[in-house]
Amino acid sequence: MNISILTLFPDLYQAFLDTSLIGRARQSGILNVELVNLFNFARPGQRIDSPTFGHGAGMLLKPEIVAQAIDQHESQQGKAVKIFFSPQGRKLDQRVLQELSQRIAQVGHVMLVASRYEGMDARVEQVYADELLSVGDFVLMGGDLPAMMLLEGLLRYVPGVVGDAASVQADSFAGAFVDYPEYTHPVDWRGHMVPEVVRSGNHQAIEDWRAAQAAQKTVQQHFNWIQSSALTAPQRVLVNRYLPAHYAVLLHGDILLKDPNSPQGVRVGSSSVTSFDLHDIARSSLTYGLKNYFIVTPLKDQQRVVQTLLDFWNTGPGVYYNEHRHQAVGRVRLLSCLDDVIRDITVQEGRAPLLIATSARDVPHIQKITYYDQAEVWQHDRPVLFLFGTAKGIAPHVIDRCDYLLGPIQGMGEFNHLSVRSAAAIVFDRWLGNNIKNR
Ligand SMILES: C[S@@+](CC[C@H](N)C(=O)[O-])C[C@H]1O[C@@H](n2cnc3c(N)ncnc32)[C@H](O)[C@@H]1O
Repeated sequence: MNISILTLFPDLYQAFLDTSLIGRARQSGILNVELVNLFNFARPGQRIDSPTFGHGAGMLLKPEIVAQAIDQHESQQGKAVKIFFSPQGRKLDQRVLQELSQRIAQVGHVMLVASRYEGMDARVEQVYADELLSVGDFVLMGGDLPAMMLLEGLLRYVPGVVGDAASVQADSFAGAFVDYPEYTHPVDWRGHMVPEVVRSGNHQAIEDWRAAQAAQKTVQQHFNWIQSSALTAPQRVLVNRYLPAHYAVLLHGDILLKDPNSPQGVRVGSSSVTSFDLHDIARSSLTYGLKNYFIVTPLKDQQRVVQTLLDFWNTGPGVYYNEHRHQAVGRVRLLSCLDDVIRDITVQEGRAPLLIATSARDVPHIQKITYYDQAEVWQHDRPVLFLFGTAKGIAPHVIDRCDYLLGPIQGMGEFNHLSVRSAAAIVFDRWLGNNIKNR
């Protein structure tokens, strides 16, 4: 494979290219690396950079210098997949690496163009870049470290560079999970033992243990990777084994009602139930793997309405009318207060749930979490209960009992008045959804 690196600082690469697996692959002829010094393309006395147009200080590489270096090098070495680097580019991850490694293998030549200063003139990227890559949402001084990072990732996919090709396929992020924990000698290191199963010699037991460990670690520490991955059926089973049980409750009691006569414009009371919320939140709950969806109302007449609907779907004509609705409504429980819900979950799970309030408003004194904070919540190893309010929202004294407040759902528009069933679906999707990123 041919690698061309266009840079202002070729010296940075010498040790990197001579060392370890890359050094060995070069020696054995698997890799042919050409370092191209961009300074060589400036005429004597010509500056390589020039100031940006518009106000604000900054220098950019001159477009004609970069263009000349690329054109000349491609005419000598053949067409390359040309990769530029920018914090504004496509974010590098293992999926991008896999995809790029295949594209580059077809062409046999990759050209990495490492910029410096304020970056590259936008037109050069437009004309030449086959790929604009970012190594993360932060700004470095130049593209040389990103180029080296890319090489370290890409070259693992080049046959012969890494001794054990199978290990590349088993490493973190090659699939839906991160790697399992590994151990070496001694068996007892400062009182910490290598797990017995790993030493058992039982290959199947070791395989099962590794798969379970990988799934558990990924659920607990990299759930966003799982969320963006396509899962096989056995992987889905493993993920569910390590996800804490989730529940939702829709509160029709202890909620705020509009009251023009009260100084705050609201009072605590109870609201009417709706069939939409019963059906739709039941279906969303089951879709996202929640164990139960509780409807709480202290009002006897409202309980009768809910019970009538539940009976229709659980034991009445609804069983045959729509079997999916029957299945979803089968997970709905009607109770008269939040304490009953907490008791029910505690009996099912053997531990009281963590309470996560949802609110369209900010509540200053409660610990806030965002839709990226699953690890923070799940580290408690307790079931999770999402609380949704009706009418004007959950009463403050109930929110005060909660462990966390989930930040308000926001769109890019000015309007922010979601129905509770839409809000519930969005919360479940952000928190537990599987939104596959692979193309
Ligand atoms: C100081 S940075 C330019 C930052 C640019 N003005 C911006 O804010 O997007 C100079 C060069 O470093 C490289 N670079 C810096 N951060 C990077 C990142 N996160 N990923 C990839 N390349 C990066 C790019 O080649 C970039 O053109």
